Amino acid sequence: MRTLVVIPTYNEIDSLPLTLEALSTWVPEAHVLVVDDGSPDGTGDWAERRAGDDPRVNVLHNPVKGGLGAAYIAGFHWALEGDWDIICEMDADGSHRARDLPQLLAAVRDGADLAIGSRWVPGGAVVNWPRNRHLLSRGANLYANLLIGLGVNDATAGFRAFRRETLESLDLDGVESTGYCFQIDMTRRVKDAGLRIVEVPVTFVERELGESKMDGDIINEALVRVARWGVQRRGRQLRALTGR
Ligand code: GDD
Ligand code: MN
Repeated sequence: MRTLVVIPTYNEIDSLPLTLEALSTWVPEAHVLVVDDGSPDGTGDWAERRAGDDPRVNVLHNPVKGGLGAAYIAGFHWALEGDWDIICEMDADGSHRARDLPQLLAAVRDGADLAIGSRWVPGGAVVNWPRNRHLLSRGANLYANLLIGLGVNDATAGFRAFRRETLESLDLDGVESTGYCFQIDMTRRVKDAGLRIVEVPVTFVERELGESKMDGDIINEALVRVARWGVQRRGRQLRALTGR
């Protein structure tokens, strides 16, 4: 199956070369789309040069930093114009191990509409994360599951493989989440569409180079949007109960 790995980047000049190297070792048949938001450190220019040398590498440049969600939506539109069968999400910073990707692809081949590389299922792990990130991730999943009942252990995970038809069936332009709650948003949309989500255990390794782009605005966006989806969901449940 033809596989495209979409990698959003913002200032990942030290990490991206290693990530592409690992992909070409572990999943040599996969093609890559780097979606760069005009990184001041030259990540986009580096990727452009790499694309000139390697036909498996492609680059999309967004003029402004629009957030992780916007970068992925642009990448998905690009992907759907091509003939990829499986379209993946992966961070540039080494946190997602290329060696785990074949298991995600196998899950889709075996029938999953979305395979999530999960830290929080048996066999999954996190290496070198500070305690506050553990708490944030566990808290975010608890919060999302309480309010919108996703039934997924790692709804914020950013290591994923979508069956092409899954992305085709979703209203991508209706996705407004720009930060990391994009991941929760996509999970919710796939679940609401009645599609099959499978969690595959992966080991998430905290980056050694560069910096996380997580910040307070990203957390706030997630808190507010998940609360809103929770209220909408309760409304739908009530209407179903009362028949109105
Ligand atoms: N193009 C673009 N634009 N890329 C971005 C932006 C942006 O505004 N913000 C972040 N990225 C890219 C980074 O360059 C990196 O490749 C990837 O998105 C993940 O960003 P990190 O900043 O490394 O995220 P993290 O390690 O703090 O968060 C991880 O855990 C979150 C919570 O579980 C990621 O896996 C997230 O996807 C996940 O939601
Ligand atoms: Mn990271």
